[in-house]
Amino acid sequence: MILMVELDAGLGEIDTPSLIIDLDLMEHNIKTMADFFRTAPSKLRPHVKTHKCPIIAHKQVRAGAIGVTCAKLGEAEAMVEAGISNVLIANQIVGETKIKRLVNLAKHGEVTVAVDDPINIKHLARTSELKGVKLNILVEVDVGNNRCGVPPNEPALRLAKEASSYPSLSFKGLLGYEGFCQNIRSIEERRLKTFEAMEKLVSTRNLLEDHGFDVEIVSAGGTGTHMITGKYQGITEVEAGSYVFMDATYSRVEGLEKFSQALTVLTTIVSTPKHGVAICDAGLKTISTEFGMPIVKGIDGVVYEKASEEHGRLKVDCGRKLKIGDKLELVVTHCCTNTNLFDVFHCVRDGRLEAIWKIAARGRSQ
Ligand SMILES: Cc1ncc(COP(=O)(O)O)c(C=O)c1O
Repeated sequence: MILMVELDAGLGEIDTPSLIIDLDLMEHNIKTMADFFRTAPSKLRPHVKTHKCPIIAHKQVRAGAIGVTCAKLGEAEAMVEAGISNVLIANQIVGETKIKRLVNLAKHGEVTVAVDDPINIKHLARTSELKGVKLNILVEVDVGNNRCGVPPNEPALRLAKEASSYPSLSFKGLLGYEGFCQNIRSIEERRLKTFEAMEKLVSTRNLLEDHGFDVEIVSAGGTGTHMITGKYQGITEVEAGSYVFMDATYSRVEGLEKFSQALTVLTTIVSTPKHGVAICDAGLKTISTEFGMPIVKGIDGVVYEKASEEHGRLKVDCGRKLKIGDKLELVVTHCCTNTNLFDVFHCVRDGRLEAIWKIAARGRSQ
């Protein structure tokens, strides 16, 4: 059972470990990205895998986003259920059970899904036809990410022809995610690599148009490349997600200084077993560490060194003292996976609890 703290409580009264949003900083991030896309040639369709929280998705849409991007069908269901009606699933939906769910979902919103295989296309078409639904399709192109997607140009053209051959499917365009570019520290190097990737996607678009296809959507991009991909001629929408919270990993990437670190894990010191060491109550079950250890916010000389399941070991510089019961904020290194470890966000403004928001799509990995 989660004991709810009263609204307006101070940060220090929130029990730990808790996931904290600084609302001023998050709102600043939403506005900053929306401002960029107001004058860019493409539109923003934020990836909600970062927050999995409908009220934040609504704020992004109110700020100008054209809809949302999801990684998972379960996320898309949570968004449509919460009234977000335009949803792109930037992923393949495979297997009869999921395809039925997908097609049912498309009766309640404008749902678009990625494909990279003719058999999968056939299955999507068959279920859509049976249920009287016209399903929107993007052909995914591998632009160098080595994940899903067909190679650029001819293979993508073949798949576009395949998708267009079924009356129950509506071919909308292309998707190509340059994930490998997102964390390249140097902006110049990132720009070069992103240009190479986008060239593959846009040349594919051109080929399709030469063959008479109407390519309405060309979707790509993330937080690290939004300023490059978002201005690349031929890209129509950008899937950036992490910008809403940012994290310690993205804070090292050049060109993102205008965004702020809005997400932390609040933790309590539970033991000070020896000089120079303190143990906090946030470990692997509340801190995701695949991109490294979190950064202790606002305190020099305290380093989060090691995580075990429910404990974090902090190295404390001799000059500094931490006492049992002290609370610290940890800036996470990967906001998207960290969100998935909590049921709710505790949302704070000026150090006071303003709201508690359910992370509705938390764990919706199916
Ligand atoms: C397909 C796709 N699009 C967009 C993004 C968003 O990236 P970011 O969170 O870095 O903005 C991701 C991140 O993993 C992704 O997988």
